[in-house]
Amino acid sequence: MAKESKKMKAEGVPLYTVPGLTPEQAAEIAAVLQDRLNALTDLHLTLKHVHWNVVGPHFVAVHEMLDPQVDAVREMADTTAERIATLGLSPYGTPGALVADRSWDDYSIGRAGAIEHLGALDLVYSGVIQDHRRAVEATGELDPITEDMLIAQSAQLEQYHWFVRAHLETSGGQLSTAGASSEVQARSQARAGAKRKTA
Ligand SMILES: [Fe+2]
Repeated sequence: MAKESKKMKAEGVPLYTVPGLTPEQAAEIAAVLQDRLNALTDLHLTLKHVHWNVVGPHFVAVHEMLDPQVDAVREMADTTAERIATLGLSPYGTPGALVADRSWDDYSIGRAGAIEHLGALDLVYSGVIQDHRRAVEATGELDPITEDMLIAQSAQLEQYHWFVRAHLETSGGQLSTAGASSEVQARSQARAGAKRKTA
C-alpha cells in the first residue's frame, strides 16, 4: 500500500446522525469514542502479546486466563467502532491510525514471568479504566446511549483488572505494584513481592 495515508480518525461533522443529537454533538462524541477504540484495540493486542510471551511458574493459568479477556475486549472494540458508525462518522481501526493517534507508549515487556507481566498489566488496565471513566463523564450528558455502553465496558474491565490484581495482592490486602509509575517498575515490584511471598 502506498504510504500516503495521513493521520486518519473519526473527525469532521457528519451529514446526518441519530435522532435527537445534532451532527456537531455526534462529532464530539465520536472523537471521544475513537480514542477509546484505539485504547481497546491496543489492549486486546497487548493481552495477546502477553499470552504469547508469558513463561515460568503459573504459565498455564495466566496464558489461559488471558484469552477470554482478549475476546471480550475485541468485542468491546467492535461495539465502540459500530457506535461511531451509527453516529454517522467513520471509525478508524488501522494500526497506523492507532499509533499516530494514541497518547501512550507501546507495552514495553517481552518474554517474562507470569507475575512480572501481571504487574505490568496492572498499570495497563489502570490507564485504560481511568480514561474510560473520563469518557463516561465526557459523553454522559450529551448521549446516555454511549455513556451506557462505556459504563458496561468499564464494569467488565474493572473485573478483569481485579483478576490481574488478585495475583499481586497479599492476604493483608496490599498490592505489590502500589506506587509504581511505569510498567518496568511494576514488573520489578511484582517480582519482588512474589519472592517475599515464597520466602
Ligand atoms: Fe493461544
